[in-house]
Amino acid sequence: MESLVTHNLALAIYRHVTAPEMRLYLARQIWEEANHTMAFEYVLKTLPVDRERVFNAHRDEPAVREKEHFLQALTTSMLDPLDLRTPAGQQRFLCNLVGYYVVLEGVFFYGGFLFAYTFRRRNLLKGLATIIDWTLKDESLHLSFGMHLITEVLTELPALMTPNFGAELRALLLQAVELERDYHRALLPQPMLDISADYLSAYTGIRDGSPT
Ligand SMILES: [Fe+2]
Ligand SMILES: [Fe+2]
Repeated sequence: MESLVTHNLALAIYRHVTAPEMRLYLARQIWEEANHTMAFEYVLKTLPVDRERVFNAHRDEPAVREKEHFLQALTTSMLDPLDLRTPAGQQRFLCNLVGYYVVLEGVFFYGGFLFAYTFRRRNLLKGLATIIDWTLKDESLHLSFGMHLITEVLTELPALMTPNFGAELRALLLQAVELERDYHRALLPQPMLDISADYLSAYTGIRDGSPT
Protein backbone atom coordinates (compact mmCIF):
# COMPACT_ATOMS: atom_id res chain seq x y z
CA MET A 1 0.00 0.00 0.00
CA GLU A 2 2.85 2.40 0.80
CA SER A 3 4.46 1.64 -2.58
CA LEU A 4 1.15 2.07 -4.41
CA VAL A 5 0.59 5.52 -2.97
CA THR A 6 4.17 6.54 -3.89
CA HIS A 7 3.67 5.36 -7.48
CA ASN A 8 0.35 7.17 -7.72
CA LEU A 9 1.83 10.43 -6.45
CA ALA A 10 4.81 10.28 -8.81
CA LEU A 11 3.07 8.96 -11.92
CA ALA A 12 -0.52 10.19 -11.72
CA ILE A 13 -0.87 13.23 -9.43
CA TYR A 14 2.36 15.27 -9.53
CA ARG A 15 2.23 16.17 -13.21
CA HIS A 16 -1.30 17.54 -12.92
CA VAL A 17 -0.88 19.57 -9.72
CA THR A 18 1.22 22.52 -10.84
CA ALA A 19 0.88 25.02 -7.95
CA PRO A 20 4.42 25.33 -6.50
CA GLU A 21 3.34 25.03 -2.85
CA MET A 22 1.31 21.89 -3.66
CA ARG A 23 4.29 20.37 -5.47
CA LEU A 24 6.51 21.04 -2.47
CA TYR A 25 4.09 19.15 -0.27
CA LEU A 26 3.76 16.29 -2.78
CA ALA A 27 7.57 15.96 -2.84
CA ARG A 28 7.55 15.77 0.94
CA GLN A 29 4.76 13.16 0.89
CA ILE A 30 6.65 11.01 -1.63
CA TRP A 31 9.70 11.09 0.69
CA GLU A 32 7.55 10.17 3.71
CA GLU A 33 5.85 7.27 1.89
CA ALA A 34 9.29 5.96 0.87
CA ASN A 35 10.31 6.08 4.55
CA HIS A 36 7.18 4.12 5.51
CA THR A 37 7.93 1.49 2.86
CA MET A 38 11.47 1.07 4.18
CA ALA A 39 10.28 1.00 7.81
CA PHE A 40 7.74 -1.78 7.20
CA GLU A 41 10.22 -3.71 5.08
CA TYR A 42 12.67 -3.47 8.00
CA VAL A 43 9.99 -4.81 10.37
CA LEU A 44 9.28 -7.76 8.05
CA LYS A 45 12.97 -8.56 7.67
CA THR A 46 13.61 -8.30 11.41
CA LEU A 47 10.69 -10.16 12.96
CA PRO A 48 10.37 -13.96 12.66
CA VAL A 49 7.52 -13.96 10.13
CA ASP A 50 7.02 -16.06 6.99
CA ARG A 51 8.46 -13.40 4.65
CA GLU A 52 7.65 -15.31 1.46
CA ARG A 53 3.99 -15.41 2.43
CA VAL A 54 3.87 -11.80 3.57
CA PHE A 55 5.62 -10.37 0.50
CA ASN A 56 3.39 -12.44 -1.82
CA ALA A 57 0.12 -11.68 0.01
CA HIS A 58 -0.71 -8.93 -2.51
CA ARG A 59 -0.71 -11.66 -5.16
CA ASP A 60 -1.87 -14.78 -3.29
CA GLU A 61 -4.42 -13.51 -0.73
CA PRO A 62 -7.68 -12.53 -2.49
CA ALA A 63 -8.68 -9.90 0.07
CA VAL A 64 -5.30 -8.14 -0.26
CA ARG A 65 -5.22 -8.56 -4.04
CA GLU A 66 -8.66 -6.94 -4.41
CA LYS A 67 -7.58 -3.87 -2.43
CA GLU A 68 -4.48 -3.57 -4.61
CA HIS A 69 -6.56 -3.87 -7.80
CA PHE A 70 -8.98 -1.21 -6.54
CA LEU A 71 -6.12 1.27 -6.10
CA GLN A 72 -4.19 0.30 -9.23
CA ALA A 73 -7.30 0.83 -11.38
CA LEU A 74 -7.50 4.42 -10.09
CA THR A 75 -3.86 5.01 -11.06
CA THR A 76 -4.22 3.33 -14.46
CA SER A 77 -7.25 5.46 -15.31
CA MET A 78 -4.99 8.53 -14.88
CA LEU A 79 -2.30 7.11 -17.16
CA ASP A 80 -4.67 6.74 -20.10
CA PRO A 81 -4.83 9.97 -22.09
CA LEU A 82 -6.39 12.38 -19.62
CA ASP A 83 -7.60 15.82 -20.69
CA LEU A 84 -7.95 17.90 -17.54
CA ARG A 85 -9.65 20.66 -19.54
CA THR A 86 -12.78 18.49 -19.80
CA PRO A 87 -15.24 17.81 -16.95
CA ALA A 88 -14.83 14.05 -17.56
CA GLY A 89 -11.04 14.32 -17.11
CA GLN A 90 -11.45 16.52 -14.01
CA GLN A 91 -13.88 14.01 -12.50
CA ARG A 92 -11.45 11.16 -13.14
CA PHE A 93 -8.76 13.16 -11.34
CA LEU A 94 -11.11 13.70 -8.39
CA CYS A 95 -11.89 9.95 -8.25
CA ASN A 96 -8.16 9.30 -7.98
CA LEU A 97 -7.80 11.86 -5.16
CA VAL A 98 -10.78 10.43 -3.26
CA GLY A 99 -9.51 6.85 -3.74
CA TYR A 100 -6.00 7.57 -2.57
CA TYR A 101 -6.50 10.30 0.02
CA VAL A 102 -9.88 9.52 1.56
CA VAL A 103 -9.84 5.72 1.16
CA LEU A 104 -6.18 4.76 1.44
CA GLU A 105 -4.88 7.51 3.73
CA GLY A 106 -8.15 7.70 5.68
CA VAL A 107 -9.46 4.12 5.87
CA PHE A 108 -7.21 1.31 4.61
CA PHE A 109 -4.24 1.84 6.94
CA TYR A 110 -6.00 1.88 10.29
CA GLY A 111 -6.69 -1.82 10.90
CA GLY A 112 -2.95 -2.50 10.80
CA PHE A 113 -2.26 0.44 13.08
CA LEU A 114 -4.76 -0.88 15.65
CA PHE A 115 -2.87 -4.18 15.83
CA ALA A 116 0.45 -2.49 16.54
CA TYR A 117 -1.12 -0.52 19.39
CA THR A 118 -2.82 -3.65 20.75
CA PHE A 119 0.59 -5.28 21.09
CA ARG A 120 2.00 -2.20 22.83
CA ARG A 121 -0.85 -2.18 25.37
CA ARG A 122 0.50 -5.62 26.37
CA ASN A 123 4.05 -4.27 26.53
CA LEU A 124 5.01 -6.11 23.33
CA LEU A 125 6.60 -4.91 20.05
CA LYS A 126 7.05 -1.40 21.41
CA GLY A 127 9.46 -0.46 18.60
CA LEU A 128 6.82 -1.36 16.01
CA ALA A 129 4.27 0.86 17.77
CA THR A 130 6.77 3.74 17.76
CA ILE A 131 7.12 3.33 13.98
CA ILE A 132 3.31 3.47 13.78
CA ASP A 133 3.24 6.64 15.92
CA TRP A 134 5.51 8.38 13.43
CA THR A 135 3.70 6.92 10.40
CA LEU A 136 0.28 7.87 11.74
CA LYS A 137 1.42 11.48 12.20
CA ASP A 138 2.42 11.54 8.50
CA GLU A 139 -0.72 9.77 7.26
CA SER A 140 -2.99 12.16 9.18
CA LEU A 141 -1.31 15.12 7.46
CA HIS A 142 -1.59 13.38 4.07
CA LEU A 143 -5.33 12.91 4.61
CA SER A 144 -5.68 16.55 5.64
CA PHE A 145 -3.72 17.72 2.56
CA GLY A 146 -5.87 15.53 0.31
CA MET A 147 -9.08 16.92 1.76
CA HIS A 148 -7.80 20.47 1.16
CA LEU A 149 -6.88 19.60 -2.43
CA ILE A 150 -10.25 17.97 -3.15
CA THR A 151 -12.12 20.89 -1.55
CA GLU A 152 -10.06 23.41 -3.53
CA VAL A 153 -10.76 21.65 -6.85
CA LEU A 154 -14.49 21.57 -6.06
CA THR A 155 -14.46 25.24 -5.02
CA GLU A 156 -12.85 26.20 -8.34
CA LEU A 157 -15.03 23.83 -10.36
CA PRO A 158 -18.35 23.43 -8.47
CA ALA A 159 -20.18 22.27 -11.62
CA LEU A 160 -18.25 18.96 -11.40
CA MET A 161 -20.35 17.78 -8.46
CA THR A 162 -23.39 16.63 -10.40
CA PRO A 163 -25.85 14.15 -8.84
CA ASN A 164 -24.38 11.43 -11.10
CA PHE A 165 -20.82 12.17 -10.06
CA GLY A 166 -21.88 12.28 -6.39
CA ALA A 167 -23.41 8.83 -6.84
CA GLU A 168 -20.20 7.62 -8.52
CA LEU A 169 -18.07 8.81 -5.59
CA ARG A 170 -20.47 7.26 -3.09
CA ALA A 171 -20.27 3.92 -4.96
CA LEU A 172 -16.46 4.16 -4.92
CA LEU A 173 -16.45 4.68 -1.15
CA LEU A 174 -18.93 1.86 -0.52
CA GLN A 175 -16.85 -0.49 -2.69
CA ALA A 176 -13.75 0.43 -0.66
CA VAL A 177 -15.57 -0.17 2.62
CA GLU A 178 -16.73 -3.59 1.40
CA LEU A 179 -13.14 -4.48 0.41
CA GLU A 180 -11.87 -3.41 3.82
CA ARG A 181 -14.50 -5.46 5.62
CA ASP A 182 -13.58 -8.54 3.51
CA TYR A 183 -9.92 -7.89 4.38
CA HIS A 184 -10.72 -7.83 8.11
CA ARG A 185 -12.61 -11.11 7.81
CA ALA A 186 -9.71 -12.75 5.92
CA LEU A 187 -7.20 -11.38 8.40
CA LEU A 188 -9.14 -12.54 11.46
CA PRO A 189 -11.13 -15.72 10.87
CA GLN A 190 -10.87 -16.00 14.68
CA PRO A 191 -10.20 -13.17 17.12
CA MET A 192 -6.56 -12.46 17.94
CA LEU A 193 -5.45 -10.54 21.06
CA ASP A 194 -9.21 -10.16 21.76
CA ILE A 195 -9.66 -8.28 18.44
CA SER A 196 -12.34 -9.74 16.14
CA ALA A 197 -12.98 -8.89 12.48
CA ASP A 198 -16.16 -7.03 13.47
CA TYR A 199 -14.33 -5.07 16.16
CA LEU A 200 -11.64 -4.12 13.65
CA SER A 201 -14.29 -2.97 11.16
CA ALA A 202 -16.07 -0.94 13.85
CA TYR A 203 -12.75 0.68 14.86
CA THR A 204 -12.17 1.60 11.22
CA GLY A 205 -15.65 3.20 11.13
CA ILE A 206 -17.44 0.41 9.22
CA ARG A 207 -20.73 -1.01 10.43
CA ASP A 208 -22.87 -3.36 8.33
CA GLY A 209 -20.93 -2.52 5.19
CA SER A 210 -21.49 1.23 5.45
CA PRO A 211 -19.09 3.91 6.61
CA THR A 212 -20.38 5.53 9.81
FE1 LIG B 1 2.50 6.11 4.19
FE1 LIG C 1 0.36 8.57 3.26
